[in-house]
Amino acid sequence: MDSLPTSIVVLTGAGISAESGIETFRAADGLWANHPVEDVATPEGFAANPQLVYEFYNQRRRQLLSPATKPNAAHSALAKFEHEFDGEFLLVTQNVDNLHERAGSSKLLHMHGELLKMRCLNSRLVYDISEDFDFDTECKCCRSPGNLRPHIVWFGEMPFHMNQINMALEACDLFIAIGTSGNVYPASGFYQTAKIRKAHTVELNLERTGSSFDQHHYGPATEIVPAFLDSILQLQR
Ligand code: APR
Repeated sequence: MDSLPTSIVVLTGAGISAESGIETFRAADGLWANHPVEDVATPEGFAANPQLVYEFYNQRRRQLLSPATKPNAAHSALAKFEHEFDGEFLLVTQNVDNLHERAGSSKLLHMHGELLKMRCLNSRLVYDISEDFDFDTECKCCRSPGNLRPHIVWFGEMPFHMNQINMALEACDLFIAIGTSGNVYPASGFYQTAKIRKAHTVELNLERTGSSFDQHHYGPATEIVPAFLDSILQLQR
């Protein structure tokens, strides 16, 4: 990077939360190791065995809210950068944890939903939730059980905020992907959309993912993310 960017889009994945103790999805001991995707992250899986799905997300919510789970230096570096960078900035996360918010990020879109929210199947109203919920939990709108689901985008469902994300990708001159394997569309295609618009594309990851970014930096997010973001702020000084 030799010139100061004017508009930046950052995409984060599970890897940015790994050092906060939250398992990634596709590591050997990751979240999908114990639960096949189709059982816990599809509408069909929820219809077939809602209790298994409720428990899968209740367990992840309990872990997220445990005192041991905190934002790490990569989350903090992104929040600091958002407030110090003079240009346009958007952080898009595939993660459903709230570690970016807790680190201070605000220009943030959760394209795959949020663990601390649930949605009524009838009214589509979304409610905050910080404890377990299941089939017997009543929603405030219908005042009857059996209508609530996790406010999470499952496979086969449309991610949230796609219009806003695509507009930002088409306008950016720097696209940074952090801690994502690039396995899941449409997020995995964001860097190509940015490249078509002649943006510079950078991948920050623990290891190579095989995607053809312009620039790659490898290592733990808590080390390479603060260093890379500082190198951009240096251009601004
Ligand atoms: N620092 C940086 N990167 C890391 C770290 C770390 N400490 N630990 C792991 N990674 C990288 C891995 O190398 C991998 O490329 O994070 C990536 C995690 O990949 P996945 O587990 O596939 O997670 P993600 O890319 O976020 O998955 C995308 O798929 O399962 C669905 O909806 C789910 O949002 C998720 C989407």
